[in-house]
Amino acid sequence: MFTTLLDRPGAAPSRPLDLFAAVQALKQELNAVILAHYYQDPDIQDIADYIGDSLGLARQAVSTDADVIVFAGVHFMAETAKILNPDKRVLLPDLNAGCSLADSCPPEAFAQFKAAHPDHLVISYINCSAAIKALSDIICTSSNAVEIVRQIPADQPILFAPDQNLGRYVMQQTGREMVLWQGSCIVHENFSERKLVELKAQHPEAEVLAHPECEAAVLRHADYIGSTTALLKYTQRSDRPTFIVATEPGIIHQMQRSAPDKQFIAAPPTGNCACNECPHMRLNTLEKLYDCMKTGQPEITLDEETRLAALRPIQRMLAMSR
Ligand code: 13P
Ligand code: SF4
Repeated sequence: MFTTLLDRPGAAPSRPLDLFAAVQALKQELNAVILAHYYQDPDIQDIADYIGDSLGLARQAVSTDADVIVFAGVHFMAETAKILNPDKRVLLPDLNAGCSLADSCPPEAFAQFKAAHPDHLVISYINCSAAIKALSDIICTSSNAVEIVRQIPADQPILFAPDQNLGRYVMQQTGREMVLWQGSCIVHENFSERKLVELKAQHPEAEVLAHPECEAAVLRHADYIGSTTALLKYTQRSDRPTFIVATEPGIIHQMQRSAPDKQFIAAPPTGNCACNECPHMRLNTLEKLYDCMKTGQPEITLDEETRLAALRPIQRMLAMSR
């Protein structure tokens, strides 16, 4: 038995000393599952039932038989879980954990952009709000975007949103022209090409791994480009001793765990800051994870009309992905 939270009116909430044990106990009590993205703090990754990329997390949300999904990630990820599970409670430790990329695509402006391209099929990256999903024909993630675009008939014009960097990468991989919404991620746009080249020169034995949300100037130095799960798997099968990792450094926790003898170096941001860490993802803490399970708040809610409209393109994505 762990020390319990004793909420007295007006008193600051106290928490048990052993938060890991307390979260485990609440998981049993609530029949909850904890899904976490690789960009979460190591403590959260260590207590999660499943850690994955956006596609893996969406698939877990479909297959879980838990009553409560505790989503340790950002808002659009938890919202996707709710779209797929209207009858389950979906909790997000911090409701302010948004996404700069999702925010770069407001629904009213996007509806006008779409109306200006009436014959285009709308493929949207999962990093967008439910309102944008509801305006889309197919959703994709960084792990299936190329695969999905390759399945679209060659004469069908495509509008791709919201990430211009992923869009350009998909165009380059598929040879397809697409109209791109000009959104981007503040974290992945912040890697410095100059510092990356210097780091490569200092570590000639290293391979450079990059997420396709990075700018083309960074991607052109990459030995391997993929989703977070794809990058992790690559480090497990490559025989190189060192990797320079151009994505949010939270994933290095899993890379180091599965290959303790290898060296992982976070690609440097432009400034002298920790701005290669996602400020939204890092809003979630183990304390907030405990609090949300204890109080049942914050909970993700959605109106049914938007949910149903957003569900259709997600289901198309799941049907089109290996
Ligand atoms: P993944 O689907 O590759 O994990 O990407 C999620 C994300 O937010 C990258 O910034
Ligand atoms: Fe959004 Fe970028 Fe953070 Fe991913 S890393 S959640 S795209 S802000």
